[in-house]
Amino acid sequence: MKRKVIIDTDPGIDDSLAIMMALASPEIEVIGITLVAGNTPVEMGFENAKKVLKHVGRLDIPVFKGADKPLKKEFVSALDTHGEDGLGESFLETVEGYEQELSALEFLEQTLEKESVDVIAIGPLTNFAQLLEKNETAFNNIGRFVSMGGTYKSHGNCSPVAEYNYWEDPDAASIVYAQMSKIHKKIEMVGLDVTRKIVLTPTLLEYIKRLDKETGTFIQQITKFYFDFHWEWEHIIGCVINDPLAIAYYLQPDLCTSFESYVQVETESISRGQTLVDAYSFYKQEANAKICTQVDVKEFYYMFLERVLHKTREELDILEEILR
Ligand code: BDR
Ligand code: CA
Repeated sequence: MKRKVIIDTDPGIDDSLAIMMALASPEIEVIGITLVAGNTPVEMGFENAKKVLKHVGRLDIPVFKGADKPLKKEFVSALDTHGEDGLGESFLETVEGYEQELSALEFLEQTLEKESVDVIAIGPLTNFAQLLEKNETAFNNIGRFVSMGGTYKSHGNCSPVAEYNYWEDPDAASIVYAQMSKIHKKIEMVGLDVTRKIVLTPTLLEYIKRLDKETGTFIQQITKFYFDFHWEWEHIIGCVINDPLAIAYYLQPDLCTSFESYVQVETESISRGQTLVDAYSFYKQEANAKICTQVDVKEFYYMFLERVLHKTREELDILEEILR
């Protein structure tokens, strides 16, 4: 039985790679993609999601537009990182149509009222805070809840202490983590400690192109701007692709080392968006999160390329060497 999954996203370059990976994973059925304002405004995210779905021939997947701004804070996109079209300034051809009648909130509510479905959230958590406010029973029916966001020991990527998704809507993240405590569940936090290790290098990209010219060219088109951004800001040759790791971790949790802890998300001033991880249990609170701390990078790339390029492990003959 395939597990049903909803991907909540703000595409976004690395979001697009995550969507490609999820749709090429036979263990899961992606029943819908919900959009949130984050890297991109929702309308742009909608256009980008369709471009990615068209590339993989999966325009049958419904895409629902969600929250167009954070709960309380002003909306700040990440187009400086993702390019003016939110897809690395690839300016791919627009895909017309495919509007859904339901909003993301309505889709989430109606689905979760009927059955428990897993969520992989790779953008700010606004849609889920709204769902909780509207229909707590539906929210509580989320199965596994994997969230790319936050950081434990690694430095932030949009403040010294905060990762973008939680910085963008800290109020939503705070509400979601607090609810996890209330219902004795654990959100699975795939934060910068692990995603920062996932660097798409020029050699890997070249290898991808050699194995599959069409997909490789698509990935090159959408990541070129990201490569330049990383060189300028992080002095990295290549780019960090955060979001596909959330998919890989969902599929294979032992890909990451993790521990359980109580986590609170800060909402104001210089600590806005910080994930306060009480690893030593000063607060004596029950754990509401599972925090990833280390990742098997080689295994991630095997999983990513096997799926996105539809190759067997044997066909990825020189990957081991490339990653050495
Ligand atoms: C997160 O923010 C966005 O830039 C990426 O898509 C990822 O979800 C990393 O901080
Ligand atoms: Ca994202």
